Amino acid sequence: MSGNYRLLVKNAQQVVLICSDGEKFITKHGMQNLCVIENGSVVIGRDGLIKAVGPAETIGAQYSGSSFDNVIDAAGMCVLPGLVDAHTHPVWAGDRVHEFAMKLAGATYMDVHRAGGGIHFTVEHTRAAGSSALLASLRGRLARMQRAGTTLVECKSGYGLELQTEIKMLEVIEEAGRALPINISSTYCGAHAVPKGKTVAEATEDILQVQLPRLKERMSAGTLSVDNIDVFCEEGVFDLRSTRSILQAGKDMGLNINFHGDELHPMNSAQLGAELGASAISHLEEVTDEGIAAMATARTAAVLLPTTAYILRLPQPRARDMLEAGVIVALGSDFNPNAYCCSMPIVMHLACVNMKMSMPEALAAATINAAYALRRSDTHGSLEVNKHGDLLVLNAARWEHLIYQLGGHQELIRYVVIKGNVV
Ligand code: NIG
Ligand code: FE
Repeated sequence: MSGNYRLLVKNAQQVVLICSDGEKFITKHGMQNLCVIENGSVVIGRDGLIKAVGPAETIGAQYSGSSFDNVIDAAGMCVLPGLVDAHTHPVWAGDRVHEFAMKLAGATYMDVHRAGGGIHFTVEHTRAAGSSALLASLRGRLARMQRAGTTLVECKSGYGLELQTEIKMLEVIEEAGRALPINISSTYCGAHAVPKGKTVAEATEDILQVQLPRLKERMSAGTLSVDNIDVFCEEGVFDLRSTRSILQAGKDMGLNINFHGDELHPMNSAQLGAELGASAISHLEEVTDEGIAAMATARTAAVLLPTTAYILRLPQPRARDMLEAGVIVALGSDFNPNAYCCSMPIVMHLACVNMKMSMPEALAAATINAAYALRRSDTHGSLEVNKHGDLLVLNAARWEHLIYQLGGHQELIRYVVIKGNVV
């Protein structure tokens, strides 16, 4: 095959494909068998899409007459799909290092929240911040995620809790998506907390009557693009009834449902999400057996967040029960001022050690299944022909080093490639 291509990555010791067999996700035994080619190569075209992936010898022969803008000799190294982070809150001002100290001294997440800190603290600082300051910090955080191997990331609003700041956050996310190579899936999370001085009913009314209609106008006019809708469904935050009405209204506008549920109390969020056809539900530390069964049937992904359970010393999400029930398990960093972690390799490590996932399961959860949670698995999440050429080149002879090594990824991840470009 002769022609001009953007990138050839050749002679990799291992290439991890993550075979989905045409499916948009993988479950159960599929998560144990990720299809690994020993001594493989990958070709990415000028359109940024994968043209070929296979044994180095075959690809070498097929593309011998071709020219490439860039060639990476990956001898002794491994190639993996770019990582997908299915849950982050990366737009905010004002850190909460002081609250970390309070929590280490024994305060719970909700103690801090009720005392007016937590999300409320961040809301105050984010409302006061200008767009350019928010954009600058967001760019820094996304660059850090990218450096740790994330090539597609979900980004939520949710530190405004009123129209103006929520829109400001979504605009900043969109702007960052234009400025940086990393792929973004954006989420409106206006129901992240009940604003101070308002009741749940008043907050819900404001979202339904003011925020969502304005969002819809902006989306229809093509001046703002948003992919998902989120609600923090929790005792003392949004109850099941208000959660249902907000998610349904978002769905009616064409947004994918992707929300926080069953984190601190069993709320039957999983059953609600399954009923509404949610793409994903995050957290699920307190999900019930019925909730697990409902999610498996509805093919609603479970986005598990090992950093949060670790930092807040919560019970671990029941990853094994979910995997055995056939739930589509995905992973996210939950990057936010409470859980300051930009690294999906650390998230996978925690998922393996604390949630008892195997390394292949964790990698599938941080690639194809996380892409599925964002409805992007047609184009992202595995190294298959016609998908985006997003990959990592790892300076190790076995791919598992990405999870085994705790931290120090600057050294380990030699190249991050997005749409065939080294970033
Ligand atoms: O997913 N649980 C709600 N939201 C975030 C925390 C946000 C914050 O504390 O600022 C989470 O953990
Ligand atoms: Fe969250």
